[in-house]
Amino acid sequence: MAAAPVDPRTTAAWASLSGIADGFTPELRGWFADDPTRTERFSYDAGDLRVDLSRNLVDAKILDALVALAEEVELPARRDAMFRGEHINVTEDRAVLHTALRQPVDVDIEVGGKDVVDDVHAVLRRVYAFARDVRSGTWRGSTGRQIATVVNIGIGGSDLGPVMAYEALRPYVQDGLECRFISNIDPTDAAQTLEGLDPETTLFIVSSKTFGTLETLTNARLCRSWLLDGIRAVDASAPADPAIVARHFVAVSTALDKVAEFGIDPANAFGFWDWVGGRYSVDSAIGTSLAVAIGPDRFQEFLGGFHAIDEHFRTTPLAANVPVLMGMLNVWYSNFLGAQSHAVLPYAQSLHRFPAYLQQLTMESNGKSVRWDGTPVTTTTGEVFWGEPGTNGQHAFYQLIHQGTRLIPADFIAFATPTHPLQDGATDVHELLLANFLAQTKALAFGKTADEVRAEGTPEAIVPARVFPGNRPTTSIMAPALTPAVLGQLIALYEHITFTQGVVWGIDSFDQWGVELGKQLALQIAPALDGDAVVLAAQDPSTQALIRYYREHRTR
Ligand code: F6P
Repeated sequence: MAAAPVDPRTTAAWASLSGIADGFTPELRGWFADDPTRTERFSYDAGDLRVDLSRNLVDAKILDALVALAEEVELPARRDAMFRGEHINVTEDRAVLHTALRQPVDVDIEVGGKDVVDDVHAVLRRVYAFARDVRSGTWRGSTGRQIATVVNIGIGGSDLGPVMAYEALRPYVQDGLECRFISNIDPTDAAQTLEGLDPETTLFIVSSKTFGTLETLTNARLCRSWLLDGIRAVDASAPADPAIVARHFVAVSTALDKVAEFGIDPANAFGFWDWVGGRYSVDSAIGTSLAVAIGPDRFQEFLGGFHAIDEHFRTTPLAANVPVLMGMLNVWYSNFLGAQSHAVLPYAQSLHRFPAYLQQLTMESNGKSVRWDGTPVTTTTGEVFWGEPGTNGQHAFYQLIHQGTRLIPADFIAFATPTHPLQDGATDVHELLLANFLAQTKALAFGKTADEVRAEGTPEAIVPARVFPGNRPTTSIMAPALTPAVLGQLIALYEHITFTQGVVWGIDSFDQWGVELGKQLALQIAPALDGDAVVLAAQDPSTQALIRYYREHRTR
């Protein structure tokens, strides 16, 4: 049994924060007016990221108490234990070493008497060699044609990271190469993703940590059939199936025995380790599709970005440690001010999958009711993370953030240099995007008073509807440009924010038992859909009725 976490409610800092939260009335307008240095005092640098926390609902006293809380729950000790490779994933009895994936080769981290950094670099060298071969055309399909499309088949962490990063880094993708992604077991996903592809020039990467995931293995079989049918249709002298598969299928997994069972040549498989959680794996071989797309040098820069933030998190005093401060602000909002969700709003179309990626990272990590010693949590945990790129969100849900009754802290992300610098006549369109980023964070913080509304000549009857209360907390994150290194920094930032919150709550942020029951039941229920009366009869009345509806209405 693992040692009990510190109950955060028993700390002096918690008592002090509870006292402050009682009757707390934030006044961002006043705070800024009273302290012209507020922005300077609450802005921080981490790697290439400039992080402005000044429009959060805190003053120096609250931030100090949050930092004291981090100390009292022994965050530094837990962080250091993670970096050392101790088994802090207690329910799975595993080390948590995604940070080792981006360590320079000369660093030693021993797990079970073995230096894992050496292993990491050995796999990276193989991934890079493969990426170079595909990019140069040295690796060819079974009919001798160069690969034009890489299809990653995976789900959860074996999909969300690669697809998010590929979308974010599209300008770095080699001309003539494209990646596509299949994740959902809904056959529409495979059907639509394969549409228009040429089997001769398509390479599949089956990505699965366990190589036992129903969705991924089903989609891999669908793709294998599509490939074999397609190749045989154009090549009458095609070799036996395994020889075709060997030129068009590679795998990424920790379970290399299962890869072989599936029929993928182990020589074409890239491994990783049980100490890499699925949602922390985009920087392992799970990122192979990305490495092919952007090339080894850029992938190396991506890893360098992660490492820069790892070092910041590991070495910076808590009071200036950006992931710690952002994580503790989230604790302030969710545990003391009642926030239930957290928006992430990138002012960058290239980051359009970033909120979805963060949903798995944060919610699969911290959506827990039990602490690492098996006892119930003592506070509310894991907020709902969500978001969309600005400005699309402005025309959809920002109304609720500005004038609704819920507190929704939001992170705004923007870049100085656009991915696509386009002009609309004399207007730089990126500047219009940035103007919106600046306008929204300003409106949320400072609002608009009734007197200001009246001064615009608004009829009295609709003044209340046009008032913006302000005091809606935001964090603004800016970077020079969305480069591979900056993307790595952003991901690592949120990994460590998630870790920080998990430690306060006493949570094992690295297991995910809550996804298991549904998986088991799906396998049990499936025969009933196919007409198995015994399995049907064993279901609850609601499930039975839905299955009957399905069987009555399905047309083939
Ligand atoms: O949804 C549960 C989960 O285990 C995730 O944690 C993981 O990222 C995903 O399934 C996919 O798992 P695998 O990579 O083993 O196929």
